[in-house]
Amino acid sequence: MNTKDILEKKTLEKEDLLYLVKLRGRQDIDAIKNKAQEVLLSKCGGKVYYRGLVEFSNICSSDCFYCGIRKSNTAVNRFMLDSEEVVEAAKWCAEQGYGSIVLQSGERSDPPFINYVEEVVRQIKKTTVSDKLSAGLGITLCVGEQSRETYRRFYKAGAHRYLLRIESSNPQLFASIHPPRQTLQSRIRCLEILKEEGFQVGTGVMIGLPGQNLEHLVDDILFFRDIDVDMIGMGPYIVHSGTDMKVYREAFEENLEENFIRSLLMIALTRLTLRDVNIAATTALQTIKENGREQGLDFGANVIMPQLTPVNVRKDYMLYEDKPCIDESKEQCRSCLERRIKSVGREVALDQWGDSPHYARKKKRD
Ligand code: 5AD
Repeated sequence: MNTKDILEKKTLEKEDLLYLVKLRGRQDIDAIKNKAQEVLLSKCGGKVYYRGLVEFSNICSSDCFYCGIRKSNTAVNRFMLDSEEVVEAAKWCAEQGYGSIVLQSGERSDPPFINYVEEVVRQIKKTTVSDKLSAGLGITLCVGEQSRETYRRFYKAGAHRYLLRIESSNPQLFASIHPPRQTLQSRIRCLEILKEEGFQVGTGVMIGLPGQNLEHLVDDILFFRDIDVDMIGMGPYIVHSGTDMKVYREAFEENLEENFIRSLLMIALTRLTLRDVNIAATTALQTIKENGREQGLDFGANVIMPQLTPVNVRKDYMLYEDKPCIDESKEQCRSCLERRIKSVGREVALDQWGDSPHYARKKKRD
């Protein structure tokens, strides 16, 4: 079978994905991109949804080997925004018509942190109700592994989406980038609990990890399918010099082009396999290529996260180096993104949550 025949198949199997993910010819890549756009249009429409991003604290009790804000990186200036600041950012987000917000931070499970998150969610819900947003902003949390009880409290407070990346679904690869006490099993369990508690759940992986091959990436897509998530966020792994993984810098720089195209193909093949989920064009794509996020949209993504983190703390939230948009105000970020989205012929959907159609279809099926 050739590329065209495989792309016409209704269901892609592992060997189809393996065939497609290896292609590097211009025509083949274009054929994959076009098919991803076709599926996106028919399953989700062509609109792009915004999620304003507030990185509200970099204090972290985890020690992921790749991450710039890992606990053992003592060079980081640790911060936590006042809850008022987060609520202010949320109000601005709602006024802009962004519709949804993502609250992200380092991972902590101590009671003051949990209380803070719960209270901030509650406040945002209370203060962002308007004629246009009758149930207030849609709230996505991205605050790591927590207990069922904590997830339940967050949901009750008004958060309805949760992002928890699996980073890699391969047990050896996962173990090679995390300390032994952080396990793949526990991450998977959290994803299951989040679904049971009613959240729309997102996951994702990093692309270009040392030791990661194309079969691992295809298995990641099959993992997304089998665990039946609603949202995907993934992007290239980028070396941070404050981590032990800095020894991979040379290899990382040599593989930039390849990892970029792998990231775009992962978006397209995830679109072709999962079809009606929301997929983010992540900022990490833009670290490698100036127009990386636009290309992500072109390969089937439909979500973008404008920066709302206050500029004075942004430099302290460096999960990876050379993070773009580090000193742009949220206003600049808004107009820049608008221009970028228009440049690829797409439009932003304002004043709506923009939930993934997958979630609605799942609900109907139940
Ligand atoms: N490069 C790319 N992505 C990273 N993340 C953390 N560190 C890095 C890095 N060095 C991603 C992880 C995490 C998300 C919040 O940020 O996938 O889940």
